[in-house]
Amino acid sequence: MDDLFRLTADYALQFHETLSDRLVGAQASFEELVDSLGGPLPEDGREDVAVVSELIAAAEPGLVGSQTGRYFGFVFGSALPASVAADWVATAWDQNAFSVVTSPAAAAAEQVAGGWIAELLGLPDGVSVGFVTGAQGANTTGLAAARQHVLARAGWDVSRDGLQGAPPIRILAGAERHVTIDRSLRLLGLGTESLEQLPADDQGRLRADALRAALEGATGPVIVCAQAGNVNTGSVDPVGELADACSAVGAWLHVDGAFGLWAAASPRLRHLTEGCDRADSWATDAHKWLNVPYDCGLVFCRHPLAHGEAMAVAASYLQRADGRSPSDWVPESSRRARGFAVWAAVRALGRSGVAALVERCCGHARTFAELLGAAPDVEILNDVVLNQVLVRFGDDDETTREVVRRVQADGTCWLGGTDWHGRAAMRISVSSFRTTTADVERSAKAILQAAAASGAGARA
Ligand SMILES: Cc1ncc(COP(=O)(O)O)c(C=O)c1O
Repeated sequence: MDDLFRLTADYALQFHETLSDRLVGAQASFEELVDSLGGPLPEDGREDVAVVSELIAAAEPGLVGSQTGRYFGFVFGSALPASVAADWVATAWDQNAFSVVTSPAAAAAEQVAGGWIAELLGLPDGVSVGFVTGAQGANTTGLAAARQHVLARAGWDVSRDGLQGAPPIRILAGAERHVTIDRSLRLLGLGTESLEQLPADDQGRLRADALRAALEGATGPVIVCAQAGNVNTGSVDPVGELADACSAVGAWLHVDGAFGLWAAASPRLRHLTEGCDRADSWATDAHKWLNVPYDCGLVFCRHPLAHGEAMAVAASYLQRADGRSPSDWVPESSRRARGFAVWAAVRALGRSGVAALVERCCGHARTFAELLGAAPDVEILNDVVLNQVLVRFGDDDETTREVVRRVQADGTCWLGGTDWHGRAAMRISVSSFRTTTADVERSAKAILQAAAASGAGARA
């Protein structure tokens, strides 16, 4: 294995060392990649070193530069070196994080790292935690615990009796909720039609007055989905006020904090998440702002009983050992040991390093807004409170989309387009530990050049 592992490590090192020279967008189309990876099903095996060399050569042109400091498309993080290395080790160990019996080390790493994240995010003592694939999995798990709990309070055991004939559950969420909430409701048999959609304000925050009005006099099972970090604007719902409205009627409050909950890790930004600690369940990602490798999300719950009842399984052959069993808190059975990479990321950064990472990204977002907003014919559409910036060019949909297209083709940086309240916008997300002020300046210059080439500047 010497040659194989050495080749892999050497290649990974070379990949990381040349990140700053790479074009950020993929350099090959999907069809080209299928061609280079494809061919008939191999009849016979091949030597390992040749296999990995072939894979690298075929896949490299199709890689997206989310490991660079100039990838601003979607809320992706890069991956901290310590967490990448820990993830390699996890793969080399090939541990099944199902239970304490299948891997005491993986179970212990999840317990310790999960506790550290709960503390960083300012969550209450004693919350249960599950490591899942991402915020989608965390939303689904958190809402499954919610469903379990609110129905149990109405005298119904949904784990045993299912939803047929169950007391109806009211589910309320803002108009700007993340789409994964809807998928979670579909998966949980609650359906999207059952969702009462409440108005959001101009930054995408669920309006507390609307929730208060909707919940007035409510009785019976109620679940409210709040959001910390709107995927377009970065805005955080007024969770403290939402928590007041929920506690008045005994509603379950779930916070989708895929990235915005990380503001709580920074003393300077923590005020944005005021009241989040009062929720009943929380979803977040580690592969976004903590910058660990894909995939890794976490779900937390204030009610371990409901969380465990919704998720845990038992069978005679599944012997238990003392300690927290990871699979009691997630919908999967056999699982990758995600706790090691999270442990390494937090160990490498420390509390102060996580705060600095979050603050640095938000500072870069403000710099983007300043540099771009100062240019003629360029408008910043959102209040830049976190790491998200929405930019519009020439106050025109087609011009804005053309600028996005040109920036993507240029390759200096990568970002995407969106629609915000009916108007096309460029969407910039700063989530990488690698992004420097020089990256932001270089990228802003490339964006303004693309804007000029699209005729935006000419309109001033
Ligand atoms: C607010 C919010 N919720 C949920 C998700 C889904 O996260 P994941 O893709 O990690 O499952 C995202 C992704 O961007 C998000 O921003």
